[in-house]
Amino acid sequence: MTKPLRSRAWFNNPDNPDMTALYLERYLNYGLTRRELQSDKPIIGIAQTGSDLSPCNRHHLVLAERLREGIREAGGIAMEFPVHPIQETGKRPTAGLDRNLAYLGLVETLYGYPLDGVVLTIGCDKTTPACLMAAATVDIPAIALSVGPMLNGWHRGERTGSGTIIWKARQMLAAGEIDYEGFIELVASSAPSVGYCNTMGTATTMNSLAEALGMSLPGSAAIPAPYRERAQVAYETGLRIVEMVKEDLKPSDILTREAFLNAIVVNSAIGGSTNAPIHLTALARHAHVDLPLQDWQTHGLHVPLLVNLQPAGTYLGEDYFHAGGVPAVVHELMQKGLIHEGALTVTGKTIAENCAGQTTHLPDVIRPFDAPLKTDAGFVVFSGNLFNSAIMKLSVISPEFRERYLSDPADPNAFEGPAVVFDGPEDYHHRIDDPALGITERTLLFMRGAGPIGYPGAAEVVNMQPPAYLIRQGVTALACIGDGRQSGTSGSASILNASPEAAAGGNIALLRTGDRVRIDLNTGSADILISDAELDQRRAALDAAGGYAFPASQTPWQEIQRGMVGQLETGAVLEPAIKYH
Ligand code: FES
Ligand code: MG
Repeated sequence: MTKPLRSRAWFNNPDNPDMTALYLERYLNYGLTRRELQSDKPIIGIAQTGSDLSPCNRHHLVLAERLREGIREAGGIAMEFPVHPIQETGKRPTAGLDRNLAYLGLVETLYGYPLDGVVLTIGCDKTTPACLMAAATVDIPAIALSVGPMLNGWHRGERTGSGTIIWKARQMLAAGEIDYEGFIELVASSAPSVGYCNTMGTATTMNSLAEALGMSLPGSAAIPAPYRERAQVAYETGLRIVEMVKEDLKPSDILTREAFLNAIVVNSAIGGSTNAPIHLTALARHAHVDLPLQDWQTHGLHVPLLVNLQPAGTYLGEDYFHAGGVPAVVHELMQKGLIHEGALTVTGKTIAENCAGQTTHLPDVIRPFDAPLKTDAGFVVFSGNLFNSAIMKLSVISPEFRERYLSDPADPNAFEGPAVVFDGPEDYHHRIDDPALGITERTLLFMRGAGPIGYPGAAEVVNMQPPAYLIRQGVTALACIGDGRQSGTSGSASILNASPEAAAGGNIALLRTGDRVRIDLNTGSADILISDAELDQRRAALDAAGGYAFPASQTPWQEIQRGMVGQLETGAVLEPAIKYH
């Protein structure tokens, strides 16, 4: 061992025997011995994200036992501690509010306690970026352990996937095909076991990307939560973190620009969530890696979709695991030279060494590169007089959507139409079925007041369902544009994450119902078709009225975060936190 253990400053500091005694005594009080704490045994934190409030991650309470056994067997001492809960489905007003709060709390814990390394227990959407961001800031040896997806959901012989089934069940309810009891039964069928969402939503995306970044053991992301392999990889993770401390292998060695570019390519191939650019941008900024949003289009747009999981495809988490998970995806991408093969991982080996020979076992679930589900599966980065940036997944545009909006033979990749504007999700729910809005199959629905400041944390509400009368006519999706986010389990072709948001002075605040808006998929532009003079007039009027109005904060954290959070384009991080590294 070359470098003295960080925890020695607490438990065995010859320069400060008084404080050593003080630091030491309380950690003895539950049975640890001086021999354990004062020998050169690395102290390994287990950052525990599971709790009764966080059912997606709750199985980590069980997995922690195998983690501890691995840590102990490799010569370490485990110290488990709680991370501020972030439950995607349970937290009001939105779990997006809590990512940065959990980040802050974890930074303080990792910095301020006698930890030589940490296992990050990741899972539900924001737990993964929150934990990785904190590890990047404090930069002590860290390894991520995914809790794994739930088993496949089934209903009457068909796979029912988390989240994705909700969008479908809502439409069935609106169309009168099922009643409320049937609605609940259908939705609940998608959650058959412990674990996180079994679709390619934000959780499977972020756990896959943590592995693609090199921050978790190869093949570990896709293992379903209840499988024996999940507990086995928990044990292996415990063994490995102790070795990482001895090797002084830190996040800054792994989270390089090459690793992020690998993650962007993998995100396209897996059909990853539109939340991924937000979280990876945030992580890159805390890791001090340059990763402008445009990188997603430059490096990711033309990568094909290889993973056939809902919402873009057919299958679910168990199938993804049996097909080979992330290593099989990386292997396919490596064959075409799309992976930076030298990127280092937590194994101490490169991603290429980890994934060599990992061919797909189920070629319909993880497709070979030359037989993809779709081409150009990445994101287009939009800009225009409505916003500086927003993203869209072109590959989810359905033929029916294309026919309605993109049928002008002279200009097949552009459309324009009248805007109907909603200020926040409550306004949308109150008014969407109001016939006075005159929504037709060519209307563009706008959602604003849903960004990091307007709806603190940014709500997943941009994928708006059409009014019930249109759904009954078979129109299941309208063009949706907004300054909020959308769930990774939604297959909607929205233009979202628009920055700056209305509440931060973005031009989307100047849009009025009835304005015509033009979207051009060739150039990635989105513009209100009014003159600059008219825009200026509206700006002056809005400024005179005190700016775009949004609801008051309900908690201290909402107010604090609103004062220092950035926009979705730049990761919606706490801006003052970036300089710490
Ligand atoms: Fe937690 Fe989807 S709601 S993983
Ligand atoms: Mg979500």
